[in-house]
Amino acid sequence: ALISLRQLLDHAAENDYGVPAFNVNNLEQMRAIMEAADATDSPVIVQASAGARSYAGAPFLRHLILAAIEEWPHIPVVMHQDHGTSPAICQRSIQLGFSSVMMDGSLQEDGKTPADYDYNVKVTQTAVAMAHACGVSVEGELGVLGSLETGEAGEEDGVGAEGKLSHDQLLTDPEEAAQFVKATNVDALAIACGTSHGAYKFSRPPTGDILAIDRIKEIHKRIPTTHLVMHGSSSVPQEWLKVINEFGGEIPETYGVPVEQIAEGIKHGVRKVNIDTDLRLASTGAVRRHLAQNPSNFDPRKFLKASTDAMYDICKARFEAFGCAGQA
Ligand code: G3H
Ligand code: 13P
Ligand code: NA
Ligand code: ZN
Repeated sequence: ALISLRQLLDHAAENDYGVPAFNVNNLEQMRAIMEAADATDSPVIVQASAGARSYAGAPFLRHLILAAIEEWPHIPVVMHQDHGTSPAICQRSIQLGFSSVMMDGSLQEDGKTPADYDYNVKVTQTAVAMAHACGVSVEGELGVLGSLETGEAGEEDGVGAEGKLSHDQLLTDPEEAAQFVKATNVDALAIACGTSHGAYKFSRPPTGDILAIDRIKEIHKRIPTTHLVMHGSSSVPQEWLKVINEFGGEIPETYGVPVEQIAEGIKHGVRKVNIDTDLRLASTGAVRRHLAQNPSNFDPRKFLKASTDAMYDICKARFEAFGCAGQA
Protein backbone atom coordinates (compact mmCIF):
# COMPACT_ATOMS: atom_id res chain seq x y z
CA ALA A 1 0.00 0.00 0.00
CA LEU A 2 1.11 3.56 -0.71
CA ILE A 3 1.64 5.51 2.52
CA SER A 4 3.07 8.93 3.33
CA LEU A 5 6.52 9.55 4.76
CA ARG A 6 4.96 11.04 7.91
CA GLN A 7 2.94 7.86 8.54
CA LEU A 8 5.95 5.60 8.13
CA LEU A 9 8.43 7.70 10.10
CA ASP A 10 5.99 8.24 12.98
CA HIS A 11 5.86 4.44 13.26
CA ALA A 12 9.65 4.24 13.01
CA ALA A 13 10.03 6.80 15.82
CA GLU A 14 7.56 4.98 18.06
CA ASN A 15 9.42 1.73 17.50
CA ASP A 16 13.01 3.06 17.42
CA TYR A 17 14.10 2.04 13.96
CA GLY A 18 15.40 3.69 10.79
CA VAL A 19 14.27 3.16 7.21
CA PRO A 20 16.68 2.98 4.28
CA ALA A 21 15.50 5.22 1.43
CA PHE A 22 16.82 3.71 -1.77
CA ASN A 23 17.08 5.67 -5.01
CA VAL A 24 15.35 3.96 -7.90
CA ASN A 25 16.06 4.38 -11.61
CA ASN A 26 15.21 1.05 -13.18
CA LEU A 27 13.36 -2.25 -12.91
CA GLU A 28 16.28 -4.13 -11.40
CA GLN A 29 16.65 -1.71 -8.47
CA MET A 30 12.90 -1.76 -7.86
CA ARG A 31 12.77 -5.57 -7.77
CA ALA A 32 15.89 -5.85 -5.60
CA ILE A 33 14.41 -3.45 -3.02
CA MET A 34 10.97 -5.10 -2.95
CA GLU A 35 12.28 -8.67 -2.83
CA ALA A 36 14.55 -7.74 0.07
CA ALA A 37 11.68 -5.95 1.84
CA ASP A 38 9.44 -8.97 1.33
CA ALA A 39 12.08 -11.38 2.63
CA THR A 40 12.67 -9.28 5.76
CA ASP A 41 9.10 -7.96 6.27
CA SER A 42 10.25 -4.34 6.00
CA PRO A 43 8.44 -1.14 5.00
CA VAL A 44 9.92 0.66 1.99
CA ILE A 45 10.92 4.17 0.94
CA VAL A 46 11.81 4.49 -2.74
CA GLN A 47 12.94 7.82 -4.07
CA ALA A 48 13.31 9.30 -7.54
CA SER A 49 15.97 11.94 -8.17
CA ALA A 50 16.10 14.49 -10.97
CA GLY A 51 18.68 12.23 -12.63
CA ALA A 52 16.27 9.30 -12.38
CA ARG A 53 13.49 11.36 -13.92
CA SER A 54 15.64 12.33 -16.87
CA TYR A 55 16.90 8.74 -17.28
CA ALA A 56 13.61 6.84 -17.00
CA GLY A 57 11.00 9.58 -17.28
CA ALA A 58 8.67 10.47 -14.41
CA PRO A 59 5.71 8.39 -15.72
CA PHE A 60 7.87 5.25 -15.98
CA LEU A 61 9.22 5.75 -12.45
CA ARG A 62 5.74 6.31 -11.12
CA HIS A 63 4.39 3.16 -12.76
CA LEU A 64 7.44 1.16 -11.66
CA ILE A 65 6.60 2.03 -8.07
CA LEU A 66 2.87 1.45 -8.58
CA ALA A 67 3.68 -1.94 -10.13
CA ALA A 68 5.70 -2.82 -7.03
CA ILE A 69 2.73 -1.90 -4.83
CA GLU A 70 0.49 -4.09 -6.98
CA GLU A 71 2.86 -7.07 -6.80
CA TRP A 72 3.55 -6.74 -3.05
CA PRO A 73 0.27 -5.24 -1.68
CA HIS A 74 1.16 -6.16 1.92
CA ILE A 75 4.29 -3.96 1.99
CA PRO A 76 3.88 -0.27 2.95
CA VAL A 77 5.66 1.88 0.34
CA VAL A 78 6.51 5.59 0.40
CA MET A 79 6.90 7.12 -3.08
CA HIS A 80 9.31 9.98 -2.45
CA GLN A 81 10.74 12.66 -4.69
CA ASP A 82 14.42 13.17 -3.83
CA HIS A 83 16.09 16.63 -3.88
CA GLY A 84 13.43 18.86 -5.44
CA THR A 85 15.11 22.16 -6.31
CA SER A 86 11.92 24.26 -6.52
CA PRO A 87 8.29 24.29 -5.35
CA ALA A 88 7.26 23.79 -9.02
CA ILE A 89 9.15 20.48 -9.18
CA CYS A 90 7.47 19.35 -5.95
CA GLN A 91 4.08 20.38 -7.35
CA ARG A 92 4.61 18.22 -10.43
CA SER A 93 5.46 15.19 -8.27
CA ILE A 94 2.41 15.78 -6.06
CA GLN A 95 0.29 15.85 -9.22
CA LEU A 96 1.88 12.56 -10.35
CA GLY A 97 0.86 10.88 -7.08
CA PHE A 98 4.06 10.90 -5.02
CA SER A 99 3.23 10.54 -1.30
CA SER A 100 6.26 12.56 -0.21
CA VAL A 101 8.53 15.23 -1.67
CA MET A 102 11.85 16.72 -0.69
CA MET A 103 12.11 20.48 -1.05
CA ASP A 104 15.86 21.04 -0.91
CA GLY A 105 16.10 24.77 -0.31
CA SER A 106 19.60 24.49 1.16
CA LEU A 107 20.81 25.12 -2.38
CA GLN A 108 19.50 27.57 -4.97
CA GLU A 109 17.49 26.38 -7.95
CA ASP A 110 20.69 25.45 -9.82
CA GLY A 111 21.28 22.72 -7.21
CA LYS A 112 24.85 24.00 -6.68
CA THR A 113 24.94 27.37 -4.95
CA PRO A 114 24.30 27.37 -1.18
CA ALA A 115 21.13 29.37 -0.47
CA ASP A 116 20.51 31.70 2.44
CA TYR A 117 18.21 30.82 5.32
CA ASP A 118 15.37 33.16 4.27
CA TYR A 119 15.26 31.71 0.74
CA ASN A 120 15.17 28.19 2.19
CA VAL A 121 12.28 29.06 4.54
CA LYS A 122 10.32 30.71 1.73
CA VAL A 123 10.52 27.89 -0.84
CA THR A 124 9.95 25.24 1.83
CA GLN A 125 6.84 27.02 3.15
CA THR A 126 5.46 27.10 -0.39
CA ALA A 127 6.12 23.38 -0.92
CA VAL A 128 4.60 22.48 2.47
CA ALA A 129 1.42 24.48 1.77
CA MET A 130 0.83 22.58 -1.48
CA ALA A 131 1.88 19.17 -0.22
CA HIS A 132 -0.02 19.19 3.06
CA ALA A 133 -3.19 20.29 1.25
CA CYS A 134 -2.87 16.99 -0.68
CA GLY A 135 -1.88 14.71 2.21
CA VAL A 136 1.69 14.57 0.95
CA SER A 137 4.68 14.78 3.32
CA VAL A 138 7.63 17.15 2.96
CA GLU A 139 11.30 16.69 3.74
CA GLY A 140 13.32 19.90 4.02
CA GLU A 141 17.08 20.37 4.29
CA LEU A 142 19.07 22.70 6.47
CA GLY A 143 22.86 22.92 6.27
CA VAL A 144 25.02 21.99 3.31
CA LEU A 145 26.05 18.37 2.90
CA GLY A 146 29.78 17.75 2.76
CA SER A 147 32.49 15.52 4.17
CA LEU A 148 33.93 16.71 7.49
CA GLU A 149 37.23 15.19 6.34
CA THR A 150 37.53 16.80 2.91
CA GLY A 151 35.19 19.82 3.15
CA GLU A 152 33.73 18.79 -0.19
CA ALA A 153 30.16 18.04 -1.22
CA GLY A 154 31.18 14.93 -3.15
CA GLU A 155 28.93 14.85 -6.18
CA GLU A 156 30.43 15.93 -9.47
CA ASP A 157 27.07 16.19 -11.16
CA GLY A 158 23.59 16.21 -9.72
CA VAL A 159 22.83 17.79 -6.39
CA GLY A 160 25.76 19.11 -4.39
CA ALA A 161 27.44 22.38 -3.50
CA GLU A 162 30.42 23.57 -5.49
CA GLY A 163 33.77 24.46 -3.93
CA LYS A 164 35.13 24.04 -0.41
CA LEU A 165 32.69 24.29 2.45
CA SER A 166 33.43 25.74 5.86
CA HIS A 167 33.13 23.63 9.00
CA ASP A 168 30.23 25.87 10.00
CA GLN A 169 28.21 25.08 6.88
CA LEU A 170 28.92 21.36 7.27
CA LEU A 171 26.99 20.97 10.52
CA THR A 172 23.35 21.95 10.89
CA ASP A 173 22.84 24.42 13.74
CA PRO A 174 20.35 23.03 16.32
CA GLU A 175 18.87 26.46 17.14
CA GLU A 176 18.38 27.27 13.46
CA ALA A 177 16.81 23.82 12.96
CA ALA A 178 14.24 24.61 15.66
CA GLN A 179 13.40 27.96 14.00
CA PHE A 180 13.23 26.35 10.56
CA VAL A 181 10.83 23.62 11.64
CA LYS A 182 8.63 26.15 13.42
CA ALA A 183 8.52 28.37 10.33
CA THR A 184 7.94 25.60 7.76
CA ASN A 185 6.23 22.70 9.53
CA VAL A 186 8.21 20.10 7.55
CA ASP A 187 7.63 16.43 8.41
CA ALA A 188 11.27 15.46 8.09
CA LEU A 189 14.53 17.39 8.03
CA ALA A 190 17.73 16.45 6.24
CA ILE A 191 20.68 17.57 8.32
CA ALA A 192 24.35 18.06 7.63
CA CYS A 193 26.27 15.84 10.07
CA GLY A 194 29.44 14.82 8.24
CA THR A 195 28.20 12.78 5.28
CA SER A 196 28.45 13.68 1.59
CA HIS A 197 26.91 12.29 -1.60
CA GLY A 198 28.63 9.83 -3.90
CA ALA A 199 31.45 7.29 -3.58
CA TYR A 200 34.21 9.67 -2.45
CA LYS A 201 33.32 10.50 1.14
CA PHE A 202 36.53 9.67 2.99
CA SER A 203 40.04 9.04 1.70
CA ARG A 204 41.11 6.94 4.69
CA PRO A 205 39.44 4.04 6.51
CA PRO A 206 36.95 5.73 8.84
CA THR A 207 37.82 5.32 12.50
CA GLY A 208 35.80 6.35 15.55
CA ASP A 209 33.13 8.99 15.15
CA ILE A 210 33.06 9.82 11.46
CA LEU A 211 29.59 11.29 12.03
CA ALA A 212 28.86 14.23 14.30
CA ILE A 213 26.73 12.09 16.64
CA ASP A 214 26.62 14.79 19.33
CA ARG A 215 25.20 17.21 16.79
CA ILE A 216 22.52 14.68 15.79
CA LYS A 217 21.61 14.30 19.49
CA GLU A 218 21.38 18.08 20.02
CA ILE A 219 19.21 18.58 16.93
CA HIS A 220 16.92 15.70 17.89
CA LYS A 221 16.48 17.19 21.36
CA ARG A 222 15.37 20.53 19.86
CA ILE A 223 12.95 19.04 17.26
CA PRO A 224 11.87 15.67 18.70
CA THR A 225 8.78 15.24 16.49
CA THR A 226 10.47 16.15 13.21
CA HIS A 227 12.12 13.09 11.71
CA LEU A 228 15.81 13.42 10.92
CA VAL A 229 17.14 12.37 7.51
CA MET A 230 20.71 11.36 6.76
CA HIS A 231 21.70 11.85 3.13
CA GLY A 232 24.93 10.46 1.71
CA SER A 233 24.62 7.29 3.79
CA SER A 234 26.27 4.78 1.48
CA SER A 235 28.87 2.59 3.15
CA VAL A 236 30.93 2.06 -0.05
CA PRO A 237 31.44 -1.72 0.40
CA GLN A 238 35.14 -2.54 0.01
CA GLU A 239 34.29 -6.00 -1.32
CA TRP A 240 32.42 -4.50 -4.28
CA LEU A 241 35.23 -2.03 -5.02
CA LYS A 242 37.54 -5.05 -5.18
CA VAL A 243 35.25 -6.89 -7.61
CA ILE A 244 34.91 -3.80 -9.82
CA ASN A 245 38.68 -3.31 -9.98
CA GLU A 246 39.38 -7.02 -10.44
CA PHE A 247 37.18 -7.09 -13.55
CA GLY A 248 38.45 -4.08 -15.46
CA GLY A 249 37.13 -1.15 -13.40
CA GLU A 250 39.23 1.73 -12.12
CA ILE A 251 37.94 3.12 -8.84
CA PRO A 252 40.49 4.72 -6.53
CA GLU A 253 40.71 3.96 -2.80
CA THR A 254 37.70 5.46 -1.04
CA TYR A 255 35.51 4.89 2.01
CA GLY A 256 31.89 5.47 3.06
CA VAL A 257 29.89 5.66 6.28
CA PRO A 258 30.15 2.44 8.32
CA VAL A 259 26.78 0.78 8.93
CA GLU A 260 27.44 0.75 12.72
CA GLN A 261 27.78 4.56 12.70
CA ILE A 262 24.44 4.88 10.91
CA ALA A 263 22.89 2.56 13.51
CA GLU A 264 24.27 4.91 16.19
CA GLY A 265 22.59 7.83 14.39
CA ILE A 266 19.31 5.90 14.37
CA LYS A 267 19.56 5.53 18.16
CA HIS A 268 19.59 9.33 18.34
CA GLY A 269 16.72 10.27 16.03
CA VAL A 270 17.74 9.53 12.43
CA ARG A 271 14.74 7.87 10.75
CA LYS A 272 15.35 8.06 6.99
CA VAL A 273 18.71 6.94 5.61
CA ASN A 274 19.39 7.78 1.94
CA ILE A 275 21.32 5.20 -0.08
CA ASP A 276 22.10 5.30 -3.79
CA THR A 277 25.85 4.78 -4.34
CA ASP A 278 25.99 1.33 -2.66
CA LEU A 279 23.45 -0.08 -5.12
CA ARG A 280 25.35 1.47 -8.04
CA LEU A 281 28.63 -0.10 -6.88
CA ALA A 282 27.07 -3.55 -6.30
CA SER A 283 25.33 -3.44 -9.66
CA THR A 284 28.47 -2.39 -11.54
CA GLY A 285 30.61 -5.04 -9.83
CA ALA A 286 28.09 -7.79 -10.51
CA VAL A 287 27.68 -6.88 -14.20
CA ARG A 288 31.44 -6.57 -14.77
CA ARG A 289 32.07 -9.94 -13.15
CA HIS A 290 29.21 -11.68 -14.94
CA LEU A 291 30.29 -10.47 -18.38
CA ALA A 292 33.95 -11.30 -17.74
CA GLN A 293 33.08 -14.81 -16.53
CA ASN A 294 30.48 -15.44 -19.24
CA PRO A 295 32.07 -14.01 -22.39
CA SER A 296 29.64 -15.75 -24.74
CA ASN A 297 26.50 -14.48 -23.00
CA PHE A 298 24.50 -11.84 -24.85
CA ASP A 299 21.20 -12.14 -22.95
CA PRO A 300 20.92 -8.94 -20.88
CA ARG A 301 18.54 -10.69 -18.48
CA LYS A 302 21.45 -12.79 -17.25
CA PHE A 303 23.76 -9.93 -16.32
CA LEU A 304 20.88 -7.82 -15.09
CA LYS A 305 19.84 -10.72 -12.85
CA ALA A 306 23.36 -10.66 -11.41
CA SER A 307 22.87 -6.91 -10.80
CA THR A 308 19.51 -7.49 -9.07
CA ASP A 309 20.94 -10.21 -6.83
CA ALA A 310 23.87 -8.02 -5.78
CA MET A 311 21.58 -5.08 -4.95
CA TYR A 312 19.19 -7.41 -3.09
CA ASP A 313 21.97 -8.42 -0.71
CA ILE A 314 22.75 -4.77 0.12
CA CYS A 315 19.07 -3.91 0.65
CA LYS A 316 18.51 -6.92 2.90
CA ALA A 317 21.58 -6.09 4.99
CA ARG A 318 20.44 -2.45 5.46
CA PHE A 319 16.84 -3.41 6.39
CA GLU A 320 18.29 -5.69 9.04
CA ALA A 321 20.98 -3.33 10.35
CA PHE A 322 18.58 -0.38 10.71
CA GLY A 323 16.00 -2.36 12.73
CA CYS A 324 13.51 -2.09 9.89
CA ALA A 325 13.11 -5.85 9.40
CA GLY A 326 9.85 -7.15 10.86
CA GLN A 327 8.21 -3.70 10.92
CA ALA A 328 6.07 -3.91 7.75
O1 G3H B 1 21.27 12.80 -4.21
C1 G3H B 1 21.83 12.24 -5.13
C2 G3H B 1 21.38 10.86 -5.51
O2 G3H B 1 22.45 9.96 -5.35
C3 G3H B 1 20.82 10.85 -6.91
O3 G3H B 1 21.79 11.09 -7.87
O4 G3H B 1 20.77 12.71 -9.51
O5 G3H B 1 22.62 11.12 -10.21
O6 G3H B 1 20.32 10.29 -9.75
P1 G3H B 1 21.35 11.33 -9.42
P1 13P C 1 24.84 8.17 -1.31
O1 13P C 1 25.52 8.81 -2.48
O2 13P C 1 25.74 8.09 -0.13
O3 13P C 1 24.27 6.83 -1.65
O4 13P C 1 23.61 9.12 -0.88
C1 13P C 1 22.42 9.14 -1.62
C2 13P C 1 21.50 10.28 -1.24
O5 13P C 1 21.68 10.98 -0.26
C3 13P C 1 20.35 10.51 -2.14
O6 13P C 1 19.60 11.63 -1.75
NA1 NA D 1 15.35 12.85 -0.08
ZN1 ZN E 1 20.71 13.26 -1.01
